[in-house]
Amino acid sequence: MLYARIIQSTIPHGIVKSIDAKDALSNPDIKALLTCKNDSSIWNAGERTHERRIFTEHVRFVGDAIGAVAATSRSSAQEAVDKIKVEYEELPAVFSIDDALDHPSKIWGDGDLIGPLEYGFGDAPAVFNSNGIFTVLEADYSTSRVHNSPLEPAASLAWWEGDKLTVVAATQGIFGCREGLSRDLNMAAENIRVISLYKGGGFGNKNSSMNYDVIAALLSRLSGKPVMVEYSREEEFVGVHGRWSSRQHLKGAISRDGSLLAVDMKAHCDVGAYTRHIKAGRFVEGPENYYSCEAWHGEVLGVYTNTPATAHMRAPTGPQSCFASESFLDEVAFRLGMNPVEIRLKNALTKYQNSKSLTSNHLKDCLVLGADRFGWNRRWKPESEKTTENGELLGVGVALATWHSRLGIGEAIVALKSNGTAKVTIGVVDIGTGAKSTMALIAANELGIPVDSVSVVWGDTSFCPFSIGESGSRTTSFTGAAVREAASKVKRKLVSLASGKTEAPEQSDVERRTFNKNSGTNYFDISHLMKSAGLDEISEKAVTELTLPENQERLSFAAHFAEVRVDIETGEVKVTDYLAVHESGEIVNPLTARSQVRGGVVMGIGMALYERLIIDPSYGSIMNSNFYSYHLPNIVSIPRIAVEFLSSDDPLGPKSLGEIPIVPVPAAIGNAIFNATGVRLRDLPFSREKLSNELMVLKKRE
Ligand code: MOS
Repeated sequence: MLYARIIQSTIPHGIVKSIDAKDALSNPDIKALLTCKNDSSIWNAGERTHERRIFTEHVRFVGDAIGAVAATSRSSAQEAVDKIKVEYEELPAVFSIDDALDHPSKIWGDGDLIGPLEYGFGDAPAVFNSNGIFTVLEADYSTSRVHNSPLEPAASLAWWEGDKLTVVAATQGIFGCREGLSRDLNMAAENIRVISLYKGGGFGNKNSSMNYDVIAALLSRLSGKPVMVEYSREEEFVGVHGRWSSRQHLKGAISRDGSLLAVDMKAHCDVGAYTRHIKAGRFVEGPENYYSCEAWHGEVLGVYTNTPATAHMRAPTGPQSCFASESFLDEVAFRLGMNPVEIRLKNALTKYQNSKSLTSNHLKDCLVLGADRFGWNRRWKPESEKTTENGELLGVGVALATWHSRLGIGEAIVALKSNGTAKVTIGVVDIGTGAKSTMALIAANELGIPVDSVSVVWGDTSFCPFSIGESGSRTTSFTGAAVREAASKVKRKLVSLASGKTEAPEQSDVERRTFNKNSGTNYFDISHLMKSAGLDEISEKAVTELTLPENQERLSFAAHFAEVRVDIETGEVKVTDYLAVHESGEIVNPLTARSQVRGGVVMGIGMALYERLIIDPSYGSIMNSNFYSYHLPNIVSIPRIAVEFLSSDDPLGPKSLGEIPIVPVPAAIGNAIFNATGVRLRDLPFSREKLSNELMVLKKRE
């Protein structure tokens, strides 16, 4: 096997004039070299609105891939990369939204903007001009570039047998990865096998096919050997992608009783040199997903800059949008002297975009239950009654969130053996969410056998049925529905075969009785039934596709409550108590569901207090591409996180849960900081410096 290293651009914007690799290639350990001068492969998923090369002659950020080397050892490969001389013709570059708006660098020839994307409903200008408006409030919010930071950096291993390619990929979805490889390599998907079993996290930056998967395949084809590409931590920060930054201007028309009548939002998002975002243009969403109002107008612009690419990260549009919306509503409450929970109950969404009904709606219930469990009315004090304890200011905050809960295709195979065990075959992978265990649980419940009697095989396109992949909070509802259906088919088939009739027994009888011996006399004995049917195994495949009823929308709901303590001298914020209340339909696997929520809250705490990719203002490179200077929350920054799930009457089963827990966190913490200090921070993260400066200003004013 060979090891590959990627040759990255050292300038932010320009054209590669020449690549001199003579020196580097004199080492016999070097087995293959590909560059933008001899390979023009396209990375189709690498950019949504333009064509992106795997190796580019037109480099657009410090770190853009211009070539790759495969060698017999990691050190030889790195040495070759260091020895390769690249000559560039430099072009003007931009590193921020303002830069790009003032002097576009024509990163894509046709300007640096994506959009504007305009959307909304109702007649916002008319509402802003109508009577009955008590006040119009405006505010600006901004959020930073942050990184997915999976503990395992990117890696991919590829080899060829004839014209058949096998890739062991660290992907969130084996079928998406295979589809992308088939497009990029221009070969039939049947000739590609993608295997992915376990990986150390993804959080959105390992979905679809990645350039390093293609690079491993290209270098392997050239060298005739298996090739593994591995990223260092620094390359992971620079060469993969993170969440884009945003600047959002919100303007709301408010009635005297605290109702939002109309909202106007204008946003700019720095998407870096490339965007892999699935719906290029929709980089933030506004309060229309949380509140009912008469009219809503949003305008969103993506701005290309000569900085590393951006794309999906857990709830791609979520936490930055919620931060603006939920801080804004908190500001409205303060202006009107209202309790933050009351104003949310007043405005909480009843119809989606004022027109569609929801399959279920427990947004208000999340707030009510959360306020009760958290002791909101006892703990929340108006800002005039500041609470101090040991030189720390104490405050509480609330934020709510919704998230899309999509429906779609699932496939699964369930096989039942005469010894009472079952095997589930599914195309999911394990990125740490426990998806495969959840699928086993669904099969066990449906068959009525213990979960330890169920084995699972997963993560290999050569024998697994299709799965959507671990992205978009979809596995439990998409693939889970197929597992349930396949298990149910197995049960019905066995009973019908054993009963010696050609027709299945009464549906009600199958539903009532299980294979579970603990359910008294009301069970089917598997080995007995199998024997009488003369069978050793029954295997069934199910393909399911749940769809939304017409004119309905399906959302998941959450209300989060945070307590913070702020050190008056240093501005340090500690989150000291946290409650997350969620309604996500049927909770199939309570253990992993709770873990998802806690994980999302931890990531949200990072985004709220610590995380920011620092972009060098004169070169566009990332200055903190390591865990020493890019701060993730650690165990001392995490409070007790209580999680509550509301039972649901949603008719379509489990809803999304993977992404929503990160969404309300920065807003809830920001609102708690305001409650503690009277300082409204509108720029993420809430660093110690920012808060201590603001506290100093306040002190002087007093
Ligand atoms: Mo996700 S951000 O849908 O992998």
